[in-house]
Amino acid sequence: MVKAWYLGSDLYQKDSNDVLTPEEITKKTGVQIFKMDVDSYKDDSRFKSVIEEKKLFFSDVYNNPADCTEEQVKFFLKEHIHEDDEVRLVLDGACCMDVRDKDDKWIRLRVTKGDMVVLPPGLYHRGLIDEYLQMLRMFENKELWVAVYRPAADDNIVHKKYLESRRAIEAN
Ligand SMILES: [Fe+2]
Repeated sequence: MVKAWYLGSDLYQKDSNDVLTPEEITKKTGVQIFKMDVDSYKDDSRFKSVIEEKKLFFSDVYNNPADCTEEQVKFFLKEHIHEDDEVRLVLDGACCMDVRDKDDKWIRLRVTKGDMVVLPPGLYHRGLIDEYLQMLRMFENKELWVAVYRPAADDNIVHKKYLESRRAIEAN
């Protein structure tokens, strides 16, 4: 199951020993988290409903070796958004997916085999991928899948709408 906590000022430092539940992460960020059986996820009704609802009919498998280079680590650490949902399922290995809350604080999601994560459009995030990882990536249109990096994405309309929606939800 996903483990999550607020980061401190350093990439590897925890803000405290408090852990966040999947429900708290969803409430704070809109990120959805599911636990899947990697041998039968295609038959899982939750998997099928995410695929159908978001029209994710393309997929590939990203493989990261255990000995990835410093350049690869830096590349995934670049903070960005997408204008579509980012849907990932860890088939094997592990990584960290960091997401910003509405106050721009980093929450680290430590994902391992069987964890499926759906990041909403416009949410700032980054990856800490420095060990073995096999991850299923699903797309509506892989050709149009792009990252918009910070700070350019600060003015992105999808990012602004995301922030507005989070503030509206928290206000209620
Ligand atoms: Fe991304």
